[in-house]
Amino acid sequence: MQKTGAGAASQTKFLLQESELPRRWYNIRSDMPTAPQPVLHPGTGQPVGPDDLAPLFPMELIGQEVSEEAEIAIPDEVLEIYSLWRPTPLFRARRLEDAIGTRSRIFYKYEGVSPPGSHKPNTAVAQAFYNKQEGRTRLATETGAGQWGSALAFACKLIGLECKVYMVKISYEQKPNRRSLIQAWGAEIVPSPSEETQSGRAILEEYPDSPGSLGIAISEAVEDAAGREDTAYSLGSVLNHVLLHQTVIGQEALAQMELADAFPDVLIGCVGGGSNFAGLAFPFLREKIAGREIDVLACEPAACPTLTRGLFAYDFGDTSKLTPLVPMHTLGHDFVPAPIHAGGLRYHGVAPLISQLVRDGLIRAEAYLQNDVFASAVLFAGNEGILPAPEAAHAIHGTLQVAKAADEAGEERTILFNLSGHGHFDMAAYDNYFAGKLQDVALDEDEMSRALHAIEGLPAPA
Ligand SMILES: Cc1ncc(COP(=O)(O)O)c(C=O)c1O
Repeated sequence: MQKTGAGAASQTKFLLQESELPRRWYNIRSDMPTAPQPVLHPGTGQPVGPDDLAPLFPMELIGQEVSEEAEIAIPDEVLEIYSLWRPTPLFRARRLEDAIGTRSRIFYKYEGVSPPGSHKPNTAVAQAFYNKQEGRTRLATETGAGQWGSALAFACKLIGLECKVYMVKISYEQKPNRRSLIQAWGAEIVPSPSEETQSGRAILEEYPDSPGSLGIAISEAVEDAAGREDTAYSLGSVLNHVLLHQTVIGQEALAQMELADAFPDVLIGCVGGGSNFAGLAFPFLREKIAGREIDVLACEPAACPTLTRGLFAYDFGDTSKLTPLVPMHTLGHDFVPAPIHAGGLRYHGVAPLISQLVRDGLIRAEAYLQNDVFASAVLFAGNEGILPAPEAAHAIHGTLQVAKAADEAGEERTILFNLSGHGHFDMAAYDNYFAGKLQDVALDEDEMSRALHAIEGLPAPA
């Protein structure tokens, strides 16, 4: 392996040794120019405290949620499981660069080498570990695309916890093999909305054909966890501690870009709740906040354009209003996004840390239509070989847009994007794309205004 920059110009893969796995997570709160606003109790309008969150989360994660420490040590037991697939590779996309004839250099960090196939186990393992340590025996969660549900099922299996997954109904139907994978790792799985919770039954009564949404599935999982002593709730994105755990991605990428003798001018990731994007971007944003110039681009679907068209407001994290009020860009908690194939990007809100960084001008966002995204995914697969998850394909599409704009301006960029997962369980989506059956859905203005009514009367952020 190249340990210096020598020869890096002709190299394709940049690999780290297991001994180079980051030993600490990076907490961007300690460096943010504007502190994120507090999460509020919907009843009192006051900031939530540890006691409000204790029925749902272990104390260690509640502490990480509000920590101001710049770095938090990763427990040895978590590192030991990370070492099954981490450090993950960083590639130079030489063949893609040649295919599009760009002057720019394109790099990608590949998180699809984890056993479930995405970045999600970086936090699933940590969450399962702290829950087990504090005596919980069962976790309840939601899943959109199925990547998060399989990551938590995997983590619970290895750590020794039971796991219940509420899977958004449209994905449950589109992805039977994700379902089987979740069962192979010993978890119980039901389509959401389900008959098993009050929240699910209420939605089904009003909308018997509801395709489900992440907001609805979160309501079901929170209700499940709140109703049982042995069970905690586990969220795969959005929360500060989840984004924190993902920062192993960017820390490794910083070291790997050094091996490549390069530093990105542009950083790109797809955003659902924001965890893979934050995982790559936060360690680089530390440098941007310190004065280095980097363009940081978040890519989202036009059918669920939270950052590009949503309001920055206090809103519930779920449809049934069971969660605290979160300061974030939102499309309204009862918004049900069109059933596009990037199921993991169908969330009405986004991580408050990302929202605040967008407000502060440190991150910008773009939204894309799904046929354009799939065309970019197929172009990528035809050159680099890896078939991306539809979510990750948004970052590929963003990368191609940036490279094209740079070429048109006669400029040369170094671009780094996060390839957050593979698409091997997303073949029904590719089948539909090849058959010309994918609908391009951009969120309609009337539906957006309707959905935003849901946040009227809630406290306004400063
Ligand atoms: C492969 C992949 N990428 C991205 C996402 C979006 O989630 P987040 O924004 O938290 O990374 C998901 C969510 O399921 C996913 O499965």
